[in-house]
Amino acid sequence: MDQRLLPDRLLIVETPNHDPAADGLETPTLTDEDWEAVQRYAQAIFACGMHSIHGPSHWTRVEKVGLELARETGADPTVVRLFAMLHDTCRLNDDKDPGHGPRAADMLGTLIGILLTIDPGRLVLLEQAIRHHTDGQTSEDPTIGTCWDADRLDLGRVGTSPEAAYMSTDEGKKRAAIS
Ligand SMILES: [Fe+2]
Repeated sequence: MDQRLLPDRLLIVETPNHDPAADGLETPTLTDEDWEAVQRYAQAIFACGMHSIHGPSHWTRVEKVGLELARETGADPTVVRLFAMLHDTCRLNDDKDPGHGPRAADMLGTLIGILLTIDPGRLVLLEQAIRHHTDGQTSEDPTIGTCWDADRLDLGRVGTSPEAAYMSTDEGKKRAAIS
């Protein structure tokens, strides 16, 4: 992984390339209780209301599309689901609010009790995907790219057509082209 892309907020950066599968280790996954706890937490801290255009209905669509994309892109579905649930939770309003990505990435530390059950490599990807999802860039990492594409493919809800040029993955580009 490009060292310049490593997060500066989480202690997990010491093992950014840890790959449990390559090590022949079990890859920990979140339990149903963990997912429910993440969902409850996201809704509890979200300041824009349950009917916000950046709220739970948007998170659900990003999760659904993200998991569909992941089957084609090879993205990590656990990271994609966590991104969907958490990436907009620190918005202070439904306008531009450019700081909401970094705030949500910093907030991950408060979920560490749950998130420590997944491996450090996933946490690095999650932190980076959330921190930079508002920067307008694309990513060659299939998991980060899938997260961002799933979010941008839901732009129709605010009257903006998703554009292939802003998609990271081939599958995202295809979907944007026909949206
Ligand atoms: Fe979003």
